[in-house]
Amino acid sequence: MPIKLDKRLSLCAEEVTRGGFILDVGTDHAYLPCFLIESGVCARAAASDIADGPLCAAHRTVEQCGLESKIALYKSDGLLDLPEEVLQSVTDAVVAGMGGELIAKIISGRKLPEGVNLILQPNTRASVLRRFLCASGYEMLSERAAVDGKFIYTVINARFTGKCRELTEFESAVGALDPRDVASRAYLEKETSTLRAAASGMVRAFSEEQRREAEHMRALAKEIDDYICRRG
Ligand SMILES: C[S@@+](CC[C@H](N)C(=O)[O-])C[C@H]1O[C@@H](n2cnc3c(N)ncnc32)[C@H](O)[C@@H]1O
Repeated sequence: MPIKLDKRLSLCAEEVTRGGFILDVGTDHAYLPCFLIESGVCARAAASDIADGPLCAAHRTVEQCGLESKIALYKSDGLLDLPEEVLQSVTDAVVAGMGGELIAKIISGRKLPEGVNLILQPNTRASVLRRFLCASGYEMLSERAAVDGKFIYTVINARFTGKCRELTEFESAVGALDPRDVASRAYLEKETSTLRAAASGMVRAFSEEQRREAEHMRALAKEIDDYICRRG
């Protein structure tokens, strides 16, 4: 069964190392590992999920694609219950379609070998994930966005270097996105409208603290706008 990916998962797939051994954490239907093997990017893969329903769906897809001998499926909470030999063989780890905080928790759950190519696609709280990555010694090598209908997704590519760094609020909001790229620019513009909408909601509140927070959000939105103008 030929697997076709949506734009979000296609972007994740583009970041995978050719010839690598990929681990897809929170795989759900296992579309990504099946696609990567069918398209010849990887020869084998491992995929995991915490829940039985998604894992059953993953088994079904793998079976329908006839890839049982090439994709190993595991029930695991993040990296915690995976066999050590799997973790040690991994070249690429994908954690996609979850909140930024959960992705950060999954990555910090257990040590992956140094040099593993992390491909992370946070659906929410991307800034929390970016902050976690840089504070924990990962470098964000690149970041790209994908527009799919009315949704915009970001995919962060990171690697462990051991150099820890605290990101400013602005740095954690823009990540490694390059506003010269149309989709990345759209992602950043959406961030500024979200900040401005939240700020407008807050000024109607009476508390001084909320008013200050609203001002702070507007200032951050302006900083991002200026960055888009300068770099875009
Ligand atoms: C929205 S789906 C995303 C599926 C796929 N990665 C994608 O991007 O299309 C999130 C999946 O992550 C799984 N999940 C949530 N928390 C998890 C955890 N701690 N460890 C492993 N899988 C988890 C869920 O069961 C679900 O199947």
